Amino acid sequence: MTITVPQSDPQDVPGTEKVPKPTKKLVLDADEEDDDDDEGDEENGKEDAGDDGAACPADGTKKKKKKKKKPKKKKTAEAGSSKQSSPPRVPVSKLFPNGNYPCGEETPYVGENSYRTSSAEKRELERLAAQEDPDSPENYNSIRRAAEVHRQVRKYVSETIKPGMTMTEIAEMVEDGTRALVEVDGLHRGIGFPTGVSLNHCAAHYTPNAGDTIVLSSDDVLKVDFGVHVSGRIVDSAFTLNFNHKYDKLLEAVRAATNTGVREAGIDARLCDIGASIQETMESYEVEVDGKVHKVKAIRNLTGHNILPYHIHGGKSVPIVANSDETAIMEEGDHFAVETFGSTGRGYVMDDGECSHYAKTPDVNKPIRLARAKTLLNTINKHFDTLPFCKRYLDRLGETRYYAALDNLVNLGIVQAYPPLSDIQGCMTAQYEHTIILRPTCKEVVSRGDDY
Ligand code: CO
Ligand code: CO
Repeated sequence: MTITVPQSDPQDVPGTEKVPKPTKKLVLDADEEDDDDDEGDEENGKEDAGDDGAACPADGTKKKKKKKKKPKKKKTAEAGSSKQSSPPRVPVSKLFPNGNYPCGEETPYVGENSYRTSSAEKRELERLAAQEDPDSPENYNSIRRAAEVHRQVRKYVSETIKPGMTMTEIAEMVEDGTRALVEVDGLHRGIGFPTGVSLNHCAAHYTPNAGDTIVLSSDDVLKVDFGVHVSGRIVDSAFTLNFNHKYDKLLEAVRAATNTGVREAGIDARLCDIGASIQETMESYEVEVDGKVHKVKAIRNLTGHNILPYHIHGGKSVPIVANSDETAIMEEGDHFAVETFGSTGRGYVMDDGECSHYAKTPDVNKPIRLARAKTLLNTINKHFDTLPFCKRYLDRLGETRYYAALDNLVNLGIVQAYPPLSDIQGCMTAQYEHTIILRPTCKEVVSRGDDY
């Protein structure tokens, strides 16, 4: 999911004094890492700071213990996915029976924060956190489990989605896979937010409602934005599919822009600087469609966001264009969804069409007069709490004739509506998104996979 900013002109501001931020290219040295954190790790249980689930130490502590020579592979473990069924129905807990889920892509901090990689104090922080209760936000295993579900589900859906399928089939394909792999269990584990399957000029927040008859066509540009949560730790990650190669360059621009945002993210990084870097990457691309050249534009009123337990939008925004707010920074312990949107249109979205996405507004207590609205709120509290939901999720819980009650909750401010967000008709938009965590010792791109 994403958020919109009530934003005026994204003017460039004169640079003032520098806050330390990563400026160099952050490259993960895959060779430093021995990512055996998956199944069959017979060294489990030994006293090794790195084996308690805290992390794969960024400084390569584990190397001493494990010298098994494996062909050098990409960082993100793909173990387990080979035993996945098609469609995916094998829970990831069965594929990783020791409960240690693969670490995402780890990147050392740079500049004034480079000390963190080897800092005994910061490593101790991570180690202690991992010994706390499994629901502690610092126990990265919950979010890694959610990320592994995301990778395995998206592998299947990206290979399987084809023109001619209905949008409902596509959304349900994602959701059925997610529920099975994460072993959906009330508010403990499940879908993180409604599956976005926004098409073409619609950039975000479209998922079909009951009765939707839209069918995917071969000229469509489809954004698949879905979420998985374990104990409220949400992985929010998105990719774009196209079937007509004339839009390849647009996808490439957005993918590169998101990777720029991921690369520039770090402790003490200024959010405005990240936005400026993203915009620079995005807008260095052009795409030629049917003989017309379009400069790719970053959609200036869409942003990434931080994520808190059970809250997809934690209050900080990651802009994708330059802005003048130099005070907002990323901090140790933050979880962020870094997402960017590129467009061949004007680079600005507005509410468009029938709403499907909703979420409870945190901490709003207002008297409700309508009895139906009260019972609907009970359902929402029980099944979603503050996690976003859509009308289809209410339908499958057996709720009927709730539209007026839902409108009532929205009008009271208890529930917020997130209508589809579209650029101008006829243009195309694309999106890529990753979830990152700013650990004390390193940055971890938890949702990184072989695909994006
Ligand atoms: Co998001
Ligand atoms: Co998203």
